[in-house]
Amino acid sequence: MHTFQPLPADMLEFDPFTKIGKEWALLTAGSKAKANTMTISWGGVGVMWGKNVVFVFVRDSRYTKELIDNGEFFSLSFLSEDYRPALNYCGSHSGREGDKFAGAGLTPAFRHSIPFVDEGNLILLCKKMSSTRITEDSFLLPELADKWYKDKDMHTMYIAEVIDILAR
Ligand SMILES: Cc1cc2nc3c(=O)[nH]c(=O)nc-3n(C[C@H](O)[C@H](O)[C@H](O)COP(=O)(O)O)c2cc1C
Repeated sequence: MHTFQPLPADMLEFDPFTKIGKEWALLTAGSKAKANTMTISWGGVGVMWGKNVVFVFVRDSRYTKELIDNGEFFSLSFLSEDYRPALNYCGSHSGREGDKFAGAGLTPAFRHSIPFVDEGNLILLCKKMSSTRITEDSFLLPELADKWYKDKDMHTMYIAEVIDILAR
């Protein structure tokens, strides 16, 4: 188990376009009994309802979604470039089919019982605030439905408070 230091939010140097969009993150949810992680490259960080928050977007079909919906918390773990193969693995295999941590060579770790990825070098621990399924009637650009949702596998947007930041 790695040693992490708590990091105040205003000390965070975080370019969301690079960190999330290019480097990707692992979204981890569940409990000690059953945790799962999946790769994300869409999402954001910001401020909502007076809290520092993350926004993540999870399709109906993801096993991780069941675990997010059944719990109060989830985490985002950011890993170095060395772990790109593990991120590809977690973005192309489902936890329904087996232990993805083992498959990807990653280690689940827990803080206040919230699962995260021990190999991460930056962890955001998050408490769910809202859950909104984005349906076709939300789109102002009709081409979005055709381009991204032909199979009706819609995204749910979760807004979650960042309750702790761990860095090493
Ligand atoms: C680079 C990359 C980014 C991804 N971003 C997202 C995302 O933001 N939201 C999402 O629902 N799925 C995303 N995925 C797909 C999931 O990671 C993938 O379907 C995964 O196998 C789901 O695992 P699960 O069934 O164990 O939850 C992404 C995949 C990759 C490779």
